[in-house]
Amino acid sequence: MDRWEGRVALVTGASAGIGAQMCRTLATHGMQVVGCAREVDRIPKTDDGSIIAIKCDLTSEEDINSLFSDIRERFGRLDLCINNAGLSHDVSLLSTQENATQKWKNMVDVNVLALCICTREAVKLMKENNIDDGQIIHISSMSGHRIPEQTSYMYVATKCMVKSLTEGHRRELRADGSKIKVASISPGLVETEFEYRCFPDDPNTARSIYESYQCLRTEDIANAVLYVLRAPPNVDIHDVLLRPTGQNP
Ligand SMILES: NC(=O)c1ccc[n+]([C@@H]2O[C@H](COP(=O)([O-])OP(=O)(O)OC[C@H]3O[C@@H](n4cnc5c(N)ncnc54)[C@H](OP(=O)(O)O)[C@@H]3O)[C@@H](O)[C@H]2O)c1
Repeated sequence: MDRWEGRVALVTGASAGIGAQMCRTLATHGMQVVGCAREVDRIPKTDDGSIIAIKCDLTSEEDINSLFSDIRERFGRLDLCINNAGLSHDVSLLSTQENATQKWKNMVDVNVLALCICTREAVKLMKENNIDDGQIIHISSMSGHRIPEQTSYMYVATKCMVKSLTEGHRRELRADGSKIKVASISPGLVETEFEYRCFPDDPNTARSIYESYQCLRTEDIANAVLYVLRAPPNVDIHDVLLRPTGQNP
């Protein structure tokens, strides 16, 4: 991890779950972390300022542009971008709910479009500084690799897109002669606020999902990120799939 010390990382969705843990872990390993989310006050803090919180609604391209302007002004560089923010709504493809389309759009905006905009802006900032050993990490899901039963299929579709985008980003960077790496991390069930946000009016359903077997912990995902970051220059880790041992499929 030595080569990452003092370098600048962006973590999206830093106010809860996996993103909040990622901020703490990267700061512990000596990185300067920028965490972004809407609920900016919930982003972890450190006494030494190693985590900076910036408010950003990822459904707004204007907010994302201002996030990157802020990073450019404060640090002048970016070395690692972790596209972690994501969500699911409990809405089916044939739903006649009045706001069904809005919920689909919200998933696509955050899980797919924000990931693409942040990656484009991150690579631009890396290139401005001739950073050729930067790293992009998409937090995808096992749902990007197999289609579970009784799920939000629009959510699954967004994560299948992340699978294609990871390869697309890798190919475009290599075609451009860049050595910036792109990896996905695809977890199974992790105990976070994710299911409570998916079922906002039904916390019992969310709780029972997390009680079905021993889930992954947010630290397990942070460790997978460290595994990607520790890879030597000749190793380009593409996708890390990890499930709780008790999860099937
Ligand atoms: N938990 C799981 O079982 C699981 C499994 C596989 C993959 N994942 C993936 O892991 C990632 C993190 O999920 P998590 O489990 O940590 O969920 P979480 O605890 O619900 O946290 C979600 C984060 O995303 C942020 N976010 C949501 N909408 C946003 C928006 N419009 N603008 C900015 N930030 C937004 C939230 O921040 P604000 O609300 O403050 O904006 C929050 O920080 C997601 O991509 C998810 O798909 C999770």
